[in-house]
Amino acid sequence: MIILVFLHKIKTMDFTDAKIRSENLRKVIEQHNRSYYVDANPAISDFEYDLLVKELETIEKEYPELQTADSPTQRIGNDINNAFVQIKHKYPMLSLGNTYTESDLNDFDQRVRKITENNFEYVCELKFDGISISLTYKNGILQQAVTRGDGEKGDDVTANIRTIRNIPLKIYGDYPDEFEIRGEIFMPHSSFERLNKERADAGETLFANPRNATAGTIKLQNSSQVAKRGLDCFLYYLLGENLPHSNHYDNLQEAKKWGFPISQNVQKCQTIQQVTDYINYWDEARKKLPYDTDGVVIKINNTEQQEELGVTAKSPRWAIAYKFKAEQAITKLLSVDFQVGRTGAITPVANLQPVLLAGTTVKRASLHNQEQINILDIRISDMVIVEKGGEIIPKIVGVDKSHRTGDSKEFEYITHCPECGTKLEREESEAKHFCPNENGCHPQIIGKIEHFISRKAMAIDGLGAETIELLYKNSLINNVADLYDLKKEQLLPLERIAEKSAENIIKSIEDSKNIEFQRVLFAIGIRFVGETTAKKIVEKLHSIDEIMSANEEQLLQIDEIGERIAQSIIKYFANQKNQEIVQRLRDAGLQMKTKEVFNKISDKLKGMSFVVSGTFTSYSRDELKQIIEQHGGKNVSAISASTSYLLAGEKSGQMKIEKANRLKVKIIDENQFNELINK
Ligand code: IVH
Repeated sequence: MIILVFLHKIKTMDFTDAKIRSENLRKVIEQHNRSYYVDANPAISDFEYDLLVKELETIEKEYPELQTADSPTQRIGNDINNAFVQIKHKYPMLSLGNTYTESDLNDFDQRVRKITENNFEYVCELKFDGISISLTYKNGILQQAVTRGDGEKGDDVTANIRTIRNIPLKIYGDYPDEFEIRGEIFMPHSSFERLNKERADAGETLFANPRNATAGTIKLQNSSQVAKRGLDCFLYYLLGENLPHSNHYDNLQEAKKWGFPISQNVQKCQTIQQVTDYINYWDEARKKLPYDTDGVVIKINNTEQQEELGVTAKSPRWAIAYKFKAEQAITKLLSVDFQVGRTGAITPVANLQPVLLAGTTVKRASLHNQEQINILDIRISDMVIVEKGGEIIPKIVGVDKSHRTGDSKEFEYITHCPECGTKLEREESEAKHFCPNENGCHPQIIGKIEHFISRKAMAIDGLGAETIELLYKNSLINNVADLYDLKKEQLLPLERIAEKSAENIIKSIEDSKNIEFQRVLFAIGIRFVGETTAKKIVEKLHSIDEIMSANEEQLLQIDEIGERIAQSIIKYFANQKNQEIVQRLRDAGLQMKTKEVFNKISDKLKGMSFVVSGTFTSYSRDELKQIIEQHGGKNVSAISASTSYLLAGEKSGQMKIEKANRLKVKIIDENQFNELINK
């Protein structure tokens, strides 16, 4: 059957064939999803799977009206900027009461026994450490995915959630017409490590742990970025009026049959002793799981009893979370170093007597900042408590003062940069000290150049950290502008640089002159101006001159720019040395403004919003969207009552046309659009 699928000719397909074919493809792909994600038993290779999805994509591109909300092609995400709409939860999303000790658990058990007259059953589950989500399905199709928010209302993150491969867009079997299913989105360790490696290579700040990375990812504005991040999900709670069973456990098993990812490790328990056994087992076994868990959730199985036990303002009385203790070790603090980061931030780092913690030997741990050291009263030679809480390096969380001897010594926090001797600064709102000598302090100089050449910035190949250090030591580069003065002849005498690599470096530097302005802005390394912020700035201010002359008020008008970023931009350009560097980059020929096409032409479409659908004779869809923006209009992806026009070309989606008619949105063709802008 699979062979037939590949040989199918899609070019010659008429509408009816395309319709049948796309429906078939969707079914086949969903079956493969199920074998892969639910049964963990893939029937075809990833390559074959991708071919199927590609074929469906091609058909949907040709016949946009055949695309459905539940199509597996939706998983690749899109570039639509989805500012999130807030949605009220049908049932509030409560949190759970936490317990940390066996005696707390016994108290919980006693309360439950009293109310249920000893006749009940527990269900134990792992507590996944991620972000909770509520999914609504209507007639078997995923309608909406909403974050917890404040428990009453959350963000509509449906477009992002659709990209998570094990969340079914469509389910199969005997399911209720309408229900909600809740669970946890998380980032497996493998995805987290890959993401942080990419960020490190690109000179971006790292996520502290998979949970933060998940939260950051779910809130991304661009769902095609979400699709790349490798999120995962387990669902653990079914809600609705017509659920198949009157107990939690059977409902979960049923949901699994419909195609939902339900953990294998859900277990019924009759006694609190069995619950404790489950906890003790998983406290150890969880270390081998490919994702983070931070406890066990204990629930009453029977739904009637759940209702009887009821809820408090914040959490149900029929469930409780037992939290695992973070892994800790005690060891001696030998000395403290101060590290200077790329941005000049100072981090005190403890050198420790090596100690085994969560499977690795720990020799160094973060001491955060001066305030933290004072609060914890940490002294050299103290026995300190080290904890591994998912952060990149372990941290010191306390001192075992019972071991404090006369040897222990308080230590002075540095006042000057250990690298360049400049007096450190600390802004009121910041916990960390900074070295302000951004263009004269060794790690900052190297860090800035590394960031500048990184893949997401100027993408200059052939210059690793070691080569940069080498060029710096040989006084060939001292800042990013110096890169553009480099000559092949200067590189050749250096050790480890052969003729071919010297040529590559020079060529790559030359090529970088074509890199678009928003990346140049990101590359020059203004504090707090990351990739997305640079993009937002460039959408509003189209050239370096406009940005340099903008005042705080103008900067604050840009989406997502607050005082901290605005002030940082102003501070950067107020620095004479930075001005010189920017001028030299400009003289070298780097892109210092957005290309012509982005420039504004008129305000004729100001205040109007457009949905563009179908194919056109004189323009591509993307060209049309660009023209709309150049004339001050806005592109939106879906028709709503507030949409001004549906710009419909040939083969425009039937569903869109019907919706436009229903909502009384004006439908125009290419000629009428031309009239609008030529008026
Ligand atoms: S049940 C009303 N089960 O823990 C009960 N929650 O601290 C709803 N969590 O907000 C929650 N794994 O994000 C439940 N197996 C599990 C869970 C779980 C993780 C999270 C969830 C919840 C938080 C409560």
